[in-house]
Amino acid sequence: MTKIVLQKALALAGVASRRRAEGLITAGRVKVNGQLVTKLGSRVALEADKITVHGKPLLFEPKVYFLLHKPAGIVSTARDDRGRKTVVDLVPSKERLVPVGRLDVNSTGLILLTNDGELTYELTHPKFEHDKEYEALIQVPHDWDKKRVEAALKKFVHGVRLAHGFKASPAQAKILNQKSNDRYWVSITLHEGRKHQVRQMINSIGASVVELKRVRMGPINLGDLAIGKYRPLTEAEIKLLK
Ligand code: URA
Repeated sequence: MTKIVLQKALALAGVASRRRAEGLITAGRVKVNGQLVTKLGSRVALEADKITVHGKPLLFEPKVYFLLHKPAGIVSTARDDRGRKTVVDLVPSKERLVPVGRLDVNSTGLILLTNDGELTYELTHPKFEHDKEYEALIQVPHDWDKKRVEAALKKFVHGVRLAHGFKASPAQAKILNQKSNDRYWVSITLHEGRKHQVRQMINSIGASVVELKRVRMGPINLGDLAIGKYRPLTEAEIKLLK
């Protein structure tokens, strides 16, 4: 009988990422065959051992993967303590979905939802460095011409300094088109994902974000999926992500 470490079993069941599962174990929330297990590294057989978390048996649901085009005004957590609508509410599924990473409430675009805890961990951990590509409508000072905007965006290549002394890692940015005298659509590709990062980067060059949309995460593109709509990922896309 194959045995796997307990934290991996929890992650496979979609309870949490492997790292969070370790926290659940050491906090005394996990029992195996009725016995509390708080030491990491215990091994279990999925077919034979009865594992519970918070007293509830593990459920091995099939893994599901969805791509949602998030509208503005929707929060990207699994639950909201203020009762606001979340991205999970927009993707009806009997599986317990969690969003992979975050988008600000006012941002739109690509967000993945899955019950695959391992994949969620890998896609959100900085060491895996999946590119994230955004399109932003930015407002620049009235006296900036196109050349000045281009020069400002070039600063991202060296990594700009943001709030709290944090330095953004190098990112690529370019103008897509000019919308009006002082508004431009720009494309920005990041290799990390800190809170409000694009907004902070744009602020650091003396401009501001009017609209922000994520169009790609690693190998997955938003494409022409309409706003508020979702679709399952294809087998090929799931393979690429893993
Ligand atoms: N950067 C931001 O500032 N906001 C987002 O929602 C995503 C990236």
